[in-house]
Amino acid sequence: MKGKAVITGGAGLIGKALAHFLKNEGYKVIVLTRNIPEDKIENIEYIIWNYREPGEWIKSLEGSEAVINLAGKNLASGRWNSETRKAIRESRVNLTQNLVEYFESLTVKPSYFISASAVGYYGNPPNPVDENSPRGNGFLAELTAEWEKSALAAEQLGVRTACLRFGAVLSTEGGALPKIIKPIKYFAGAVPGSGKQYFPWIHIDDAVRMIDFLIQKKSEGIFNAVSPHTIRIEDLIKTAGEILRRPVIFRIPEFLIRALLGEASEIILNGAAVKPARIISEGYDFEYSDIRQALENLLK
Ligand SMILES: NC(=O)c1ccc[n+]([C@@H]2O[C@H](COP(=O)([O-])OP(=O)(O)OC[C@H]3O[C@@H](n4cnc5c(N)ncnc54)[C@H](OP(=O)(O)O)[C@@H]3O)[C@@H](O)[C@H]2O)c1
Repeated sequence: MKGKAVITGGAGLIGKALAHFLKNEGYKVIVLTRNIPEDKIENIEYIIWNYREPGEWIKSLEGSEAVINLAGKNLASGRWNSETRKAIRESRVNLTQNLVEYFESLTVKPSYFISASAVGYYGNPPNPVDENSPRGNGFLAELTAEWEKSALAAEQLGVRTACLRFGAVLSTEGGALPKIIKPIKYFAGAVPGSGKQYFPWIHIDDAVRMIDFLIQKKSEGIFNAVSPHTIRIEDLIKTAGEILRRPVIFRIPEFLIRALLGEASEIILNGAAVKPARIISEGYDFEYSDIRQALENLLK
């Protein structure tokens, strides 16, 4: 039996797949959630938490082998008005700050802390980037920098810490892929903007296996959680069209996306050629490094 793995946001897209995987690997898995989900996974303990206040739930963190922090208000839920922006920020920066503060009160602190971040850190740079590249500009870049800073504060408590800058996590269960696939299936697939924007991505199985790999190695610092195969968004959409045997002939003009989504359009219109340099140097072997192979696995 392996140790205890505590997941915040464990009912979300990555969290649910991770909870399943770690349970099967022999971890005792605890999910901290605001509401117990209806589709609970067997042999996983769900505990209600409120990151704003310490409570009984804090005991679940005691002596854990790993805490994996995946909570955060979904970024792709429409326009970012000031209220949405506040909720997006608080549910990441304040939540992570509080979580790390609660570590202080534990008798036996977690051995390892993994906190989610995003490739939005890099903004929209013209050249390829890796973990040593500078932060970009814009809301997401500023948010991720603050989010990572609050996670890395755990190192001062002696907790080994890693931040994973995820690219778009490809899964049929949620995230970007089902939204992209649906119009393609109905012969209405369209390339957003020029289509030339980079699209850093990772197959859900690699996202989960990478977290498990890091828990075993307890490696510290920043890791890009993206496939080594850099693509542009038009490659993703056209490859999906080919696999689904549907033509993709439309384009959605950039001005329309900006008009519809405002600043949130940066999720679709910006992108970086992100290299997963550190995880490769740690010896991680990608199961899906090619987009066609990943989409064939997910869509066939
Ligand atoms: N999926 C991607 O493509 C991707 C890409 C880059 C970065 N990321 C980051 O990786 C993390 C996990 O991604 P995901 O796709 O698994 O996210 P997700 O499916 O949206 O799940 C996130 C979880 O966070 C919790 N949550 C939502 N709003 C919250 C709030 N206001 N306060 C506290 N908790 C809240 C929810 O859990 P409960 O309802 O159970 O409390 C939810 O299930 C996120 O922080 C995301 O930004 C994801």
